[in-house]
Amino acid sequence: MKDAISQIEARYKARTARSEALHARSERVLATPGSRGGCHHAPYPLTLSYGSSWRLVDVDGNEYIDAASNMFSLIHGTAFPPVMEAVRRQMVLSSVWTANSVEQIQLAELLAERVPAAERVVFCNSGTEAFSLALQLCRVLSGRPRFVMLKGGYHGSSWDALLAHRGIEGPGYLLASAGPEGDLLQILHRSHSEICGLFVEGVQASNALAAAPPRWWHRCTKFVGPMAFHLCWTRS
Ligand SMILES: Cc1ncc(COP(=O)(O)O)c(C=O)c1O
Repeated sequence: MKDAISQIEARYKARTARSEALHARSERVLATPGSRGGCHHAPYPLTLSYGSSWRLVDVDGNEYIDAASNMFSLIHGTAFPPVMEAVRRQMVLSSVWTANSVEQIQLAELLAERVPAAERVVFCNSGTEAFSLALQLCRVLSGRPRFVMLKGGYHGSSWDALLAHRGIEGPGYLLASAGPEGDLLQILHRSHSEICGLFVEGVQASNALAAAPPRWWHRCTKFVGPMAFHLCWTRS
């Protein structure tokens, strides 16, 4: 096994010399290993250069199939032509103002029309910001201090969410496990009077979880109304 890993690493290093050099350069000026800690891997991460649809190319010219789509936020793939065209059109008109734009209102209308739970919309710059805002709302509306999230789940880099992601216990949250053998339903039962919200990833991608049996999430959502806390699905 060790031999196989060494061979894979040797092959990786042989074809990614420019990524290696750029990683050494980045360490001198970047405070964290890349734009996201989760993108770091040994012996050094790739530096990408460009892409199109499902295809990504690194600075050494190697091609990859993109199975992550920026954690699913690029649902049409990289550099999708209609999106690029819309961005180009908008950039000519300016990129940001300290005021509303017609497009912002149009997009909110579209989302409210398509997503029954989204009667009104807040636009955020990151998943971290969306999570923090949702948590604040849950705490203020319920008057309860703690949120629940799934062990190993990821909800961005706010302090509580990051500690919870690492499995470190804290006063502001409870960690639960999902799946048929998990303790989530017991935790919701036992502690509902102090829980302001249950946070789950819409597509559970951050931890290998046991597959839930049919209608398991439906049973979870049935807790939410009577116990008067909030169920928040997030995905950046
Ligand atoms: C479910 C979920 N919440 C929050 C985040 C954090 O998003 P951001 O990196 O934009 O702060 C992510 C990012 O992958 C995510 O998958």
